[in-house]
Amino acid sequence: MPMSKYITYNILGVLCILFCLSSCKNHGEEYHSITDKIEAESRDYHGISTSSESYIEHINTVEVTENGLTFLIPERKEEIESYSCTECHSKPLDELQSKTIKKAHWNIKLSHANQLTMNCVTCHNGDNMDYLQSLTGSQIDFDLSHQLCSQCHQKQFKDWAGGAHGKRIESWASPRASMTCVNCHNPHAPSFESKWPERYNTQKINERK
Ligand code: HEC
Ligand code: HEC
Ligand code: HEC
Ligand code: HEC
Repeated sequence: MPMSKYITYNILGVLCILFCLSSCKNHGEEYHSITDKIEAESRDYHGISTSSESYIEHINTVEVTENGLTFLIPERKEEIESYSCTECHSKPLDELQSKTIKKAHWNIKLSHANQLTMNCVTCHNGDNMDYLQSLTGSQIDFDLSHQLCSQCHQKQFKDWAGGAHGKRIESWASPRASMTCVNCHNPHAPSFESKWPERYNTQKINERK
């Protein structure tokens, strides 16, 4: 090999190594992994943020961690008309109730499970109405009513925590905000009536002609 070519190859080689070193050095210092790099560079991608924060600004949310996943759900207490319950429930239930007439909650008709196995105090705590009550007698905050449902509906609860049952609010991007059980199911009558698609049967119309 002629000397001049040998030198050119050598210089090219050295340049290559230098280029490699410099480029590896730049990124090696900033990011530990490719996912770090993707996350960092998508944070303000072309000036557009990939966050759902601006879509959920108008609702109050609470953060929950269920099955190892942390996400937001809408808060409930502000939405419940008769909250706080202790405005009226300051004395025991039997002192409030009358034998002859029904004095409150006329709009609530329980149609959930068998009446032998479920009544109002399965879920509501007669001693402190401002909290829901678990089957073991623990207090559950009204904002966390999914924990109440999860006692008996583990399958739907696990699907919901994973994002398969229920629905995301507004946007797919993180932070994740999901509807909670009572946003869709009325706890007092949770089942939906089944609906059949409207049928437009052209065959039948032709037969009638
Ligand atoms: C405006 C007053 C008022 C408020 C607010 C109120 N309650 Fe009541 N509640 C009553 C009265 C009065 C009764 C007794 C009704 C009866 O049987 O005559 C009652 C009864 C009940 C009962 C027993 C079932 C029944 O129908 O007797 C439950 C359970 C109950 N309330 C839950 C709640 C919960 C939960 C809240 C808050 C989310 C709440 N209440 C808020 C007045 C109130
Ligand atoms: C399966 C559990 C469950 C049972 C049984 C149940 N509730 Fe509730 N109740 C809830 C949950 C959960 C909420 C909160 C719903 C929300 O966040 O909108 C609620 C909300 C309420 C409220 C406040 C909402 C409103 O409409 O004013 C009242 C009052 C109430 N329940 C009374 C009763 C009474 C009376 C009974 C019995 C007839 C009863 N509940 C049975 C779970 C239950
Ligand atoms: C103490 C146990 C218990 C709790 C707590 C409970 N449920 Fe239920 N739920 C039942 C039973 C039992 C049935 C009736 C099952 C059936 O008919 O197959 C039922 C029925 C339902 C149904 C109708 C199922 C169908 O196939 O149509 C829905 C929806 C539902 N519950 C949602 C909820 C939600 C939401 C909560 C929380 C607010 C909740 N449940 C809390 C026991 C419970
Ligand atoms: C975005 C609305 C939404 C949310 C949130 C939601 N559900 Fe449902 N759920 C539905 C619909 C729709 C069905 C299907 C009803 C049908 O097929 O008749 C359903 C069905 C069910 C059933 C009946 C059995 C079945 O799988 O068909 C149960 C029980 C139930 N949900 C419990 C829950 C519980 C518990 C939560 C919270 C952990 C929850 N759901 C959250 C909309 C919702």
